[in-house]
Amino acid sequence: MTDTDTPVGPDIDIELLRRRALTTLSAARDRTTLLTSCVEGPELTAQHSPLMSPLVWDLAHIGNQEELWLLRAVAGREALRPDIDGLYDAFEHPRSERPTLPLLPPEEARRYAAEVRGRVLDLLESTAFGGTRLTEAGFAFGMIAQHEQQHDETMLITHQLRRGPQVLTAPDPEPVPPFTGPAEVLVPGGPFTMGTSTEPWALDNERPAHRREVASFWIDTTPVTNHAYQAFIDDGGYDDPRWWTTDGWAHIRRHSIDAPQFWYREAGQWLRRRFGVTEVVAADEPVLHVCWYEADAYARWAGRRLPTEAEWEKAARHDPVTGRSTRYPWGDADPGPEHANLGQRHLRPAPAGSYPAGESPYGVRQLIGDVWEWTSSDLAPYPGFAAFPYKEYSEVFFGPEHKVLRGGSFAVDEVACRGTFRNWDYPIRRQIFSGFRTARSAVA
Ligand code: AVJ
Ligand code: FE
Repeated sequence: MTDTDTPVGPDIDIELLRRRALTTLSAARDRTTLLTSCVEGPELTAQHSPLMSPLVWDLAHIGNQEELWLLRAVAGREALRPDIDGLYDAFEHPRSERPTLPLLPPEEARRYAAEVRGRVLDLLESTAFGGTRLTEAGFAFGMIAQHEQQHDETMLITHQLRRGPQVLTAPDPEPVPPFTGPAEVLVPGGPFTMGTSTEPWALDNERPAHRREVASFWIDTTPVTNHAYQAFIDDGGYDDPRWWTTDGWAHIRRHSIDAPQFWYREAGQWLRRRFGVTEVVAADEPVLHVCWYEADAYARWAGRRLPTEAEWEKAARHDPVTGRSTRYPWGDADPGPEHANLGQRHLRPAPAGSYPAGESPYGVRQLIGDVWEWTSSDLAPYPGFAAFPYKEYSEVFFGPEHKVLRGGSFAVDEVACRGTFRNWDYPIRRQIFSGFRTARSAVA
């Protein structure tokens, strides 16, 4: 069964993983520091949107999870600050409540996270990678680096929602000639291996590897662009209930939604606000900040549908020549800047058709990075799923209220992005870095 899964398992190199844990934890902290030092104290404690925590909450929560899983669970240490666990438990207080809590002020939050990190770096040198499930292949270190990077994406979302002058800058992706390849490709029916049992730092919901039968389907070669999405708007897509599910239609009516979030129209042209700058919407970029209802409606208008999660992963990982599922669309190599737009290297998606070196064997581009892609699937466990190390990472979110997103965005670090990685959110959410591509069943 897992013989067609990634080959990482058999030749795991422990010292390589230990070095990788160190570099990835350090990279996460550099990003956290940047995101929490580019604004002044009052902006760290303010709530920029009821959907988000104050940045200072994310900062101490990052330190607190690191302390819980590495210093306490792995090393058996006493709590450094037993008084604060409750404040930073995401399940005890919803985001909207967090600004009213007696949170650690910015300087104290920084000191706490730094103190935890100092001890963790000592622990990393002395811990055997193996012996327990938490330490096997350094899993808990990889999990905590992913957790911090996930919150670095969360904090970037907070920055996007924040009103005020620009504080973050990054070079734009390289311009590319207009994409001239086919608009869609055929993925022939048949089984493939979904999920993983061998990727050492894959999270519980990505496991185990299992065979899935997928019928033939066509899938877009690139994510849907702003240009294509504007045609849906111009055609009255937001005013026509035919394209929308009942819930989606009720939602966009109630909230007067008529374009992607952060867009507005001025003098006959679509503008958008992006990290404190107002600019003309770039036609060739993947559409960003649309909710599942909008993605689903666009697809119906286009005579298509969203891909299922299994279709997405087959298009991304299945190699029809070897029959094996690779770690990434381009193979098993770790992501490089030639493969995908990841890691907040750029603060926007790259034009559709970018990264030819990152395309999958079927010729599908930009599956990894740029924009999270909505799928038609609800978040559900794979056959044989077992919650690890805690039910609150994924298990409590299984069910029809959450839709799956795949592939990561420009805001995701490579440690938290794999061909098997699963993200999820409510179908109304669009402050996240979400876009989509469409698919259609192949007629037999
Ligand atoms: C997997 C992105 C939905 O941000 O709620 C962070 C990741 N889990 N801390 C989230 C997560 C615990 C999670 N998502
Ligand atoms: Fe968290």
